[in-house]
Amino acid sequence: MIIGVPKERKKQERRVAITPAGVTALVSHGHRVLIERGAGLGSAIMDEQYRAAGAEIIGEPEFIWQEAEMILKVKEPLEEEYHLLREGQIIFTYLHLAANRELTERMLEAKCIGIGYETIQLDDGSLPLLAPMSEVAGRLSIQVGARCLEVTQGGRGILLSGVSGVPPAKVVIIGAGIVGANACHVAVGIGAQVSILDVNPTRLGYVRDIMHGHVTTVMSNRANIEEEVLKADLVIGAVLIPGARAPKLITEDMVEKMKPGAAIVDVAVDQGGICETTRPTTHDDPTYIVHDVVHYCVTNMPGAVPRTSTYALTNSTLSYALEIADRGLEGALARNRALLRGLNVFRGKVTHSGVAEAFSLPLEEMHL
Ligand SMILES: NC(=O)c1ccc[n+]([C@@H]2O[C@H](COP(=O)([O-])OP(=O)(O)OC[C@H]3O[C@@H](n4cnc5c(N)ncnc54)[C@H](O)[C@@H]3O)[C@@H](O)[C@H]2O)c1
Repeated sequence: MIIGVPKERKKQERRVAITPAGVTALVSHGHRVLIERGAGLGSAIMDEQYRAAGAEIIGEPEFIWQEAEMILKVKEPLEEEYHLLREGQIIFTYLHLAANRELTERMLEAKCIGIGYETIQLDDGSLPLLAPMSEVAGRLSIQVGARCLEVTQGGRGILLSGVSGVPPAKVVIIGAGIVGANACHVAVGIGAQVSILDVNPTRLGYVRDIMHGHVTTVMSNRANIEEEVLKADLVIGAVLIPGARAPKLITEDMVEKMKPGAAIVDVAVDQGGICETTRPTTHDDPTYIVHDVVHYCVTNMPGAVPRTSTYALTNSTLSYALEIADRGLEGALARNRALLRGLNVFRGKVTHSGVAEAFSLPLEEMHL
């Protein structure tokens, strides 16, 4: 199969959909890989490294879109790329179609095949191509939260770890899923005093076990959230209710009563955030202050660390890309139910219930 990797065009997107090791794997299976010149630079991967791995470096993205049977990307195609979509071509990327009517319509018109990373789902309901970015965001949340507590950012002017004779900061993590457990891992490692809340006792038990008891687990309910948040120096929002907006668990009234100079890193901002005072921010201007509390609410946190995020993402996407390339699309979909669940549009038909519901379009079953 001919696989094309164009440079990402979305503002501040520095990740790339393949690493040199990924190229080696595809080429060694007999496939051709076309990569746009400079596609890896944001993640510090040089054209020469791709070339050494067996890729062909191409100057014109149009040529890649025209030649490739499968396009590997990180973000959804942008307006400037719509005219490049073509019949029967596989687009394998984060698509988020249910939130994007225009792209959905353009992909249906073009009769291309869209497989969304975010909709690939294993039999246990987990989302293996979202998990690596949650891992990055969870770990990063403590790093950026530590920065928010510095006085220059409007913070309380305390060090998360404390020092000899001076106690550490109190970190409160709401949500003990992938983001929460990874935030907990870093916060405990740095020496902070950490509490984690969830509605699911199994998740709390898991986090307590992996942290060998170096964390206080708390059942998530309104009274406990208020009690913990008012004592916190740093709060991490890490809740997810699949398919729904995040619940507003921290009210503006609670924010007003927090310690002056405390910080909230609301990782769940991409689902609306768990705090009434949350509004989305960007890497250019990541923080703002409400009621003397520093808020960090960047919707695309992994974009700050593309060298890590590119490798974390492609470690997970490559096996699916290889399966599609080796078996052909229909062979791969017939064999891999997780991949089939990730199929959003197929040659002019909507094949994903979330996309069909979002735009009241008919849902077509794939018969393989
Ligand atoms: N901002 C970013 O760049 C970025 C990056 C990755 C993930 N995210 C977001 O982070 C959030 C968490 O993602 P995840 O992968 O950890 O999800 P996850 O499903 O692994 O974990 C979510 C957890 O929230 C818990 N929960 C649900 N309701 C709760 C409540 N009322 N109180 C406390 N806990 C509750 C669930 O039991 C679950 O353990 C999502 O909104 C995700 O979209 C944002």
